[in-house]
Amino acid sequence: MSVFSFEDLISPIGKERFYDEYQGKKHLAIRCSYPRFKDHFSWTELDNYLNSMDLNGWDRMPQCAVVLPEGNKLNPENNNQWTKKTHKKKFSKQLIYDLWENGNSIILPLSEHLNKTMWNQCEELEKEFGSGCANIYCSNQKDSNNYQIHADSTDNFLFHVRGKIRWHIYNEFEHQCKPGEATENTYIDLSEGDLLYLPIKLYHRVTTLSPRISISYHFTDVKYKRTKWYDWIGEI
Ligand SMILES: [Fe+2]
Repeated sequence: MSVFSFEDLISPIGKERFYDEYQGKKHLAIRCSYPRFKDHFSWTELDNYLNSMDLNGWDRMPQCAVVLPEGNKLNPENNNQWTKKTHKKKFSKQLIYDLWENGNSIILPLSEHLNKTMWNQCEELEKEFGSGCANIYCSNQKDSNNYQIHADSTDNFLFHVRGKIRWHIYNEFEHQCKPGEATENTYIDLSEGDLLYLPIKLYHRVTTLSPRISISYHFTDVKYKRTKWYDWIGEI
C-alpha cells in the first residue's frame, strides 16, 4: 500500500521550506520517476463504482457529479433543476455514460472511503493538516471538459494517479480579481506519480493530455468530519 508521509511527499523540499515559501503563497510541483500513487485509485475501481449506479435511486452514489459542457456540474442535488431547465433526461446511468463518452469529466467528491489506501493517506496527512478528505477527478480523453478557471476553498495536494495532465496556474488569488480577469502565470505538465500543491484560493484550471485520474487530498475544511475506518470483515 502506497501511503506517504507529508515529508516523503514533498521531498526534497523540507517541511520548514514548504511552510516558509509555499503554503498559502505559491504552487509547488514535485516530480516522481515512477507511478507512486497507482494504488490510490484505478480505472477498474471507477468502472465498478459507476456500474453500481441506478440500481434504485440516488443513495448508492451520493458523491458522483459530472462537469457539464456549460461549465457547471450535474449531481444528485441539482438534478431536478437541471432536468426542468434543459428538458434533458434524468440523471441516470445512461445519461452519465453518454456525458462521459462525450468527454465530460466525472468527479467523486468525499471518496476516501472507497478504498483503504486513500483512507490511510488522508489519515496520514491529517497528522499535519487536520480534518481532510479526497476528491477523485476522472476524464476519458485528451482535451476533456473540465471546470473553467476557478479557485478552491482549501489547500490542495493533487496526486496524479493515471495519465497526463496540464495545470494552468494563474497569478491571482480569489480576493484579487474575478476569474475572467486573472492572468496565467505558467503551466505545468504532470505525469503519474507527480504531486502538485495548490494554495487555497489561487486561480487554476486543467487541460487533460490523455485519459486521467487525479485525486485531490484537501484539508482545513472544518465542516467535514470523518469517523474511523472499521475492519468489518475481521476474521470472517
Ligand atoms: Fe480546483
